[in-house]
Amino acid sequence: MLKIGIDKIGFYAPHLYVDMTKLADSRNVDPDKFTIGIGQEKMAVPPVTQDAVTLAANAAVDILDDNDKEAIDFVIFGTETGVDSSKSAAVYVHELLGLNPYARAIEVKQACYGATAGIQMAKGHIAMNPDSKVLVLGSDIARYGLSTSGEATQGAGAVALLISAEPHIMALEDESVYFTTDVMDFWRPVYSDKAFADGKLSNEQYIAFFTRIWEQYKAKTGMELSDFVAICYHLPYTKMGYKALKNVLEEGTEDVQERLLANYKLSTDYNRNVGNIYTGSLYLSLLSLLEQTEELKPGARIGMFSYGSGAVGEFFTGILQPNFQDYLNIDRHHGLFASRSEVTVPEYEAIFEEALPTDGSTVELDIDNDPAKICLAGIADDKRQYVNKVSRVAY
Ligand code: HMG
Repeated sequence: MLKIGIDKIGFYAPHLYVDMTKLADSRNVDPDKFTIGIGQEKMAVPPVTQDAVTLAANAAVDILDDNDKEAIDFVIFGTETGVDSSKSAAVYVHELLGLNPYARAIEVKQACYGATAGIQMAKGHIAMNPDSKVLVLGSDIARYGLSTSGEATQGAGAVALLISAEPHIMALEDESVYFTTDVMDFWRPVYSDKAFADGKLSNEQYIAFFTRIWEQYKAKTGMELSDFVAICYHLPYTKMGYKALKNVLEEGTEDVQERLLANYKLSTDYNRNVGNIYTGSLYLSLLSLLEQTEELKPGARIGMFSYGSGAVGEFFTGILQPNFQDYLNIDRHHGLFASRSEVTVPEYEAIFEEALPTDGSTVELDIDNDPAKICLAGIADDKRQYVNKVSRVAY
């Protein structure tokens, strides 16, 4: 049977971050609340020269070779912080990366669930077209506002997943369970650049979705906790997935519990240092797990819990492939974390308040201060001006 799954994974976060202990101090909050109660150390701060398009393009630019660029005939961009109500962010990325023009390019929206929908769509596309590759992007900037209760759960970043037949990293299994119900736990009306959240309700719904979907998954497949080496979660903050896991942990023996908890910790490391990246968050957690340990063996089954407020949830699974470690970009990703610069809380606040014009006026942005390969260089004639500094694609 044709195996379909994740062939390559790329990640990008902006080069600036704020330290959560210092943010807590300036908000008169006990730092333990942010670092232990919420479980975040550093929060990525996007400069005005980065948006959902550039973050995604930067996540993808280093993982694709010329064969990939030719074989990709579908770009699916999951985001809830896109830059245009009509034109998809995928079209910009398609151009910035120089992909095969005989391709589809679309944007998918359902809060943090968008990239998961993209992966499932990609799987269907490849089942029908086994020589194709699909580029699935999850890219967002999470904004709740300064001094709000959501502030500590902001972040920014993107994950790029190359989905193909005979994948090198993880083959996706066919059984999955998905669930939708209308709930106002988190939303962002079109007039607002900041999200609204009913924090307590959102936490409750997340756990209720996981528990319900997990029960259904077990009933449908006969699987149990012991069949999993790890379960990765959508991580709005790193304590959230732990709360969901804790709810079902007693179903496993002591050994299983220990294994799942140890791997959960590894799967939260990157997210703890970036914050919520919405659509990419679950896949950043998978990357964190795969790149933080050499203990995982080919054949291991990993559970994936995707949750997008509003709300849609899905539990699906994948099997690690032979020599999957050879296809990761551990040094590049560790280098990305190591090369970031800290900003002070006042600097973060100033960057947060910096806004692009909404009245049609022209603006030119200084992209020399942004080390990213792909940047937003300004707005002219109501059109965003993007630059790929390496290939010199600019428009
Ligand atoms: P809050 O009201 O500021 O915090 O909001 P809290 O009072 O609930 O405290 C948080 C935790 O810190 C609690 O732990 C406290 O006990 C603990 P818990 O009881 O929950 O285990 N705490 C301390 N721990 C150690 N030392 C201390 C201390 N003080 C307190 N001194 C909240 C927190 C996450 C609700 C808020 O930040 C928020 O509203 N965030 C945005 C919404 C969100 O992230 N929801 C998560 C589920 S929904 C989701 O995942 C979807 C989403 O990604 C969007 C999408 O789908 O697009 C958000």
